[in-house]
Amino acid sequence: MPAIGYLNGEFQSPDSAVVPIDERGHNFGDGVYEVLRVYGGRAFLSDWHFERLERSLRAIAIDNPHTRAEWARLMNEAIRRSGEAQALVYLQVTRGFATRSHGFPQVRPSVSMTVRKVSEKAPSAHGTLLCLPDERWGNVWVKTINLLPNVIAKEVAHRAGADEALLVRNGEVTEGSSSNAWFVRDGVIWTAPADRYILAGVTRRLVLQLAEELGLTVREQRLPLDDLKDVDEVFITGTTSEVQPIHKVFVDEGTGPALQALPDTAPDTLLQEVSHPVTLWETEGTGVVTAKLREAYADYVTRFAMLEV
Ligand code: PDD
Repeated sequence: MPAIGYLNGEFQSPDSAVVPIDERGHNFGDGVYEVLRVYGGRAFLSDWHFERLERSLRAIAIDNPHTRAEWARLMNEAIRRSGEAQALVYLQVTRGFATRSHGFPQVRPSVSMTVRKVSEKAPSAHGTLLCLPDERWGNVWVKTINLLPNVIAKEVAHRAGADEALLVRNGEVTEGSSSNAWFVRDGVIWTAPADRYILAGVTRRLVLQLAEELGLTVREQRLPLDDLKDVDEVFITGTTSEVQPIHKVFVDEGTGPALQALPDTAPDTLLQEVSHPVTLWETEGTGVVTAKLREAYADYVTRFAMLEV
């Protein structure tokens, strides 16, 4: 089925829907977004996504154009039109259309949405991570559409042959470029706290709940990069990655100092090549805790798709 698009009241193909040049998202990145997974034709964990959307909108003073019930109706209609059982929904709310000027205009927010089939290709069973400095601003808890540091980090990671970037701020791991990061050390699960320096993932929230149900101990604390050598398991989570085991974390030798503190000197390019890869952590197979959580997550999804949760 073709992808479904929606823009301000009209369903249309994502390829033909157009936003005006003076759209604030386009000019300033002045907007927020959400990404939801569809399993069994139903939007997964939608209340938690809408809750986070409300928080992001409030943070940047955009009036929420819809109630939760209206959002649900709109999204369910888009999913129905797509006819897909397994899909990804992207929805964006920007401040709207107004002649370019930094100050906030008094205009209606602009809403867009897409629904696309999720490719059948499973994510690689064992991902690799490249450590990079977390150069993002201090409010990454807001799910803003300003993703330039994230897309650059992902691109640098991909060019180095890694699946994802592992971001490090002042010597401590925050998260991935589009995922939350987790470590298991002596049976205790570590993940960064839901403060201003990470995006509190909806998947993270479910994994915390599942960990509690499984009687696993979780410590919401940023892992010092220096402690990475002592961890037993690494995995990442996200709406698209679900629970993904990691088998290797590496870094470019030259990046080391920037992981502790960003240098003041501006580099020539942000797309630094990895010329001297150094492995910081490596394992074989999937760790016990990761496997348990992966299974619990898959079970939860199956029960959801069968209307049991
Ligand atoms: N990204 N951290 C960042 C920086 C993210 O972009 C994401 C999600 C997450 C995980 O959040 P969640 O579990 O709610 O998906 C953490 C989405 C999938 C994206 O931008 O495509």
